[in-house]
Amino acid sequence: MTAQILDGRAIAADIREQVRRQVDARRAAGQDAPGLVVVLVGENPASQVYVRNKQKACQQVGFRSELLQLPADTSQARLLQLIEQLNARDDVDGILVQLPLPAQINEDLITEHITPTKDVDGFHPWNMGRLVLRQPLLRPCTPKGVMTLLACTGIDLVGKDAVIIGQSNIVGRPMLLELLMARCTVTVCHSKTQHLADKVRGADIVVAAVGVPRFVEADWVKSGAVVIDVGINRMQDGSLCGDVDTDAVAARAGWITPVPGGVGPMTVATLLQNTLLAADMHDRRS
Ligand code: GUN
Repeated sequence: MTAQILDGRAIAADIREQVRRQVDARRAAGQDAPGLVVVLVGENPASQVYVRNKQKACQQVGFRSELLQLPADTSQARLLQLIEQLNARDDVDGILVQLPLPAQINEDLITEHITPTKDVDGFHPWNMGRLVLRQPLLRPCTPKGVMTLLACTGIDLVGKDAVIIGQSNIVGRPMLLELLMARCTVTVCHSKTQHLADKVRGADIVVAAVGVPRFVEADWVKSGAVVIDVGINRMQDGSLCGDVDTDAVAARAGWITPVPGGVGPMTVATLLQNTLLAADMHDRRS
């Protein structure tokens, strides 16, 4: 078997086109284009790339977007004050503070300070709690983007066995909630998990989010499984590689995401969907 490729670039381009049309419709109805503010603290090179991609996507769909770049020694108090100003601004529908933040700033405190209806990352406890309760509003972008990819396979997810490798707040935990809501049976594995390879061998769906290059090996994967690679690892020669040994796993899997060009573009496309939803909620309130 050779896996079919889940082309995140192409699917994300379709989503951007849908969002662009909805922005045109808003403007034709006399409403503003959605407005996103991205806050970047410090000069983490990976964060700079991610933020640039987000800004570019906003421009492509006609959003108003602003990038606020702050020095690495910015105090927590200064960042909290900035978020308060953005919360109060009527022309700002979405606020995204790029993570990780420098060590002097408590990320949880910052996340909780963003008004939940402007939290386009879906990381605020209110948005996470809504996902727990199966009443999602703004949903974390990477897991929601993965659900869109899974929908594109046409596979009925109900009753499928899913294994997630990684338990982070950004990917592993919300991914568990998304797959559970889709009525999969879900196992979350982490660095203390015993018999990891055996658990993966039982899975119809594997989501790898560990941050270790080529961690998932071919003989861990059930024939025909859907393999979603969330990892983006920069190698010494400058190339990018995922958490899955893609070439070897593709010989067994039914579907697989490439890196780059799989989950990454879906995260950005989902951010656009979330910002549009935040703008719609904002209009309804005002
Ligand atoms: N850092 C890595 N992924 C993300 C993300 O989805 N949102 C934010 N704000 N920071 C990140």
